[in-house]
Amino acid sequence: MENFLHIAAVWLHVLGIALFVGPQFFLAFAWVPASRRIEDLPTRVAAMRTITTRFGWIGGIGLLLILIGGSYLIADWRDYHNIDGGAFLDYRYGVIFVIKMVLLVVMIMLVGLHMFVVGPSQVDAMEEQARGDDVPPIRLRRLRITSMALSISGLIVTLIIMGFGVSLGAAEYSIQRF
Ligand code: HEM
Repeated sequence: MENFLHIAAVWLHVLGIALFVGPQFFLAFAWVPASRRIEDLPTRVAAMRTITTRFGWIGGIGLLLILIGGSYLIADWRDYHNIDGGAFLDYRYGVIFVIKMVLLVVMIMLVGLHMFVVGPSQVDAMEEQARGDDVPPIRLRRLRITSMALSISGLIVTLIIMGFGVSLGAAEYSIQRF
């Protein structure tokens, strides 16, 4: 039963990662270049709103699954790896986990800033432009650069977190005392 629950939690964790990471690659490397080819601005803005809203839902559900699977895995780590004594941070496992959680906070801040502040301002500015309002090109450029910087740095931190996650899973490496 213990093994089954562990496998189910890792499955949930990995499914969440796929849902959270996959769309980020899709948005940055497929949708953004493709959307620039839509010449009719109102159509481009409407498509942008739909895609980013759906991304929010898919990524949000992904993050929730990551949290559910991850919470089980960390609650069960001593039993699963047959560890009796020693403090959490006496093990490489504990140190890797703490670094991973700090990076998780950084990643959530970057993705949150992108999703809830810069992204919506960018779409608003595009909508104003599509309505024919006078939007200074410098404002659009600034928003585009900030948005790109946030999405790329968020993605890089996410990939690093995945590396720390895999290191935790590699028990011969992580279950070592200092
Ligand atoms: C609340 C947040 C999280 C918690 C509590 C958590 C916890 C854990 C734990 C305890 C393990 C190791 C399981 C073991 O001992 O075998 C693990 C593995 C892993 N984690 Fe997380 N994690 C969290 C968030 C994330 C995030 C945000 C990512 C990446 C986007 C991630 C990626 C991974 C990966 C790739 C593995 C390896 C899975 C495997 O064994 O194949 N984790 N996580």
